[in-house]
Amino acid sequence: MIIQFCGLSGSGKSTIAGRVKEVLNREGIRVEVIDGDEYRRVLCPDLGFSKQDRNQNIRRLGFVASKLSAFDIVAIICAINPYEEIRQEIKDNYPNVKTIFINCNLETLVQRDTKGLYHKALLPDGHPEKITNLTGINDPFELPDKPDLTLDTACESIDESVAKLAEFIVDALK
Ligand code: ADX
Repeated sequence: MIIQFCGLSGSGKSTIAGRVKEVLNREGIRVEVIDGDEYRRVLCPDLGFSKQDRNQNIRRLGFVASKLSAFDIVAIICAINPYEEIRQEIKDNYPNVKTIFINCNLETLVQRDTKGLYHKALLPDGHPEKITNLTGINDPFELPDKPDLTLDTACESIDESVAKLAEFIVDALK
C-alpha cells in the first residue's frame, strides 16, 4: 500500500508518519517513511520548488514507494505534495494508493513555525531573507479532491491523529 500525504509545512506530517510507523511495527506491519526533506537531500538535490520540480519530486518518491509497496511494505510518502495533478498521477500509476490530507489552518502553522519558514515568507517584499514560494503563503496548495482520510492537527491531538491513521491502514490492509 502507498499512503500519499499532502499538507502544508509544519502540519505534522513527519511526526504522524514516524509515530504511525512505530505503532504499526509493534503489530508486525512493516512501514517505511519516504520523507520529503530527507529525499530532497539525497535523491532530489537537483529539484527546487517550482510546480514542475515539486511534481518531479513526488514522481520520484512515488516510484520508490511503489517498489516498497510491491514487497508488502506500507510506504508513506511524507511530502507537501501540493498539486492534484501529480496526486492523481500517483493514484493512476500504482495499485492501492491512499491519499491522506494532513490539514491545519494557517494561523496555527504560523504560530508553530517549527522551521522558521513562515516568518521568512511573511517578511516584507524586497527583504533579503524573504522566501517567495512557501506553500500556503505565496505558493499554491490545491486541496485534495476526495481524500481517503483527513486529519486535522489544529483540532485533534497528535495521539488522536496517529490512532486514526493507524486504524485506517489496518482496516485497509484487511
Ligand atoms: S513538495 O512540495 O515537493 O512536496 P517537500 O515536502 O519535498 O515539498 O519539501 C518541503 C520541505 O522543503 C519543507 O518541509 C521545508 O523544510 C523545505 N522548504 C524549503 N523551501 C520551501 C518552500 N519554498 N516551500 C515549501 N517547502 C520548502
